[in-house]
Amino acid sequence: MKQEYILAQKNGRTIPLEDRIFGISNRAKAAIAKYGRDKVVNGTIGALMDDEGKLVVLESVDEVFHSLTAADYAEYAPIGGLAGFRGAVLKAAFGNHEPEGFKEAVATPGGTGSLRNTISNYSSPGDRVLTSDWHWAPYNTIAGEIGRSIDTFRLFDDNRKFNADSFAEKVKELLQKQDSLVIILNTPAHNPTGYSLTLADWDQVISVLTEEAKCGKPAVLLIDAAYIDFAGDEDEYREFFPKLSALPENVLPIVAYSLSKTYTLYGARCGAMICVAKTQEIADEFKRVCEYSSRGSWSNSAKVGQTILTKIYEDPQLLRKVDEERAGYREMLLARGRAFSRAADEAGLEIVPFDAGFFVSVPCDDPDAVSRKLEEENIFLVPLKLGLRVSVASVPEAQCEKLPAVIKKAME
Ligand SMILES: Cc1ncc(COP(=O)(O)O)c(C=O)c1O
Repeated sequence: MKQEYILAQKNGRTIPLEDRIFGISNRAKAAIAKYGRDKVVNGTIGALMDDEGKLVVLESVDEVFHSLTAADYAEYAPIGGLAGFRGAVLKAAFGNHEPEGFKEAVATPGGTGSLRNTISNYSSPGDRVLTSDWHWAPYNTIAGEIGRSIDTFRLFDDNRKFNADSFAEKVKELLQKQDSLVIILNTPAHNPTGYSLTLADWDQVISVLTEEAKCGKPAVLLIDAAYIDFAGDEDEYREFFPKLSALPENVLPIVAYSLSKTYTLYGARCGAMICVAKTQEIADEFKRVCEYSSRGSWSNSAKVGQTILTKIYEDPQLLRKVDEERAGYREMLLARGRAFSRAADEAGLEIVPFDAGFFVSVPCDDPDAVSRKLEEENIFLVPLKLGLRVSVASVPEAQCEKLPAVIKKAME
């Protein structure tokens, strides 16, 4: 029998021969080369593309990039990040809604680094990390790489509302079984559904965690805010942050902030993990353990994105220019989402509750079969466990209007 691995160790992981999303994405690219862009729908890409299929790059950010000196990017950054960056990223993440508490920011390679360091420092090997049933698949990879796994609660109840009961049940169950718990909530503009927790949903989350934390065990609420600047008005979508201050001392909120989408710096690998602690000691410990983990995994994070953010926040006029430029592209993205959602209504296609962002999801029983069927018509989407993910970030508005009817037909 052929062995699954030649020299490598499996270590409890299932590693596919090909990354599924990249496989589909490659077939989409091949179809575009063969039939032309207007004959193919490539709804697989997790980056914002313009209507011509070109990556959107904020010119104002690119100008800063090109103004840098070699030392701005060639030199090592301190392990925890440049001092200027650590201050700037707090403003970037919280805007006008900085929660009260002891805050520390540690630089990470994108939001992914924040997820990794949070799981490694606030859970134990063998633990389950809680997130919603609809979730970004790499959470499983990140947890699995360090000997943890993902458990889920139902994101929506039968009335298509945030399922606080399922959330409470799973938090209770896992806190009974383990010594600590890491919870990941990706909001606003969740990947893959586009859902954003409302302020009322947030009240329920805080109330559940306050209640369940009475057992005294430590918990972390990781807010994966990767899409926060593509949900809608930046200020409005940050209104939930002050609510985090109401959590008890043994529940630590950590924000995973990413420059990938907000500053179109996907490849620069820049982000930060930010804690909102009840005491200085907890914040100091956060900084110490996260910097230590950084040292032992990727060492320093890349300096270039940190320098760029620092420069943007030093110059109010530049900051305004970047925000305005992003707002234009965000409007393009939001219009696509609205178009898809409206067309789904008209076609009688059920979609998962959607608010905004890069993705829309369509629940279905056999996502792989429907996805294969759609590929025959040169429509490339990502099949998930619970349905199909459509990246409106990479599909022009005109195609978003037509797509729901075609998906509906393929499902039938
Ligand atoms: C839900 C979610 N979280 C986090 C990330 C992290 O991205 P990065 O590591 O590029 O910041 C992504 C990127 O696609 C994402 O979709």
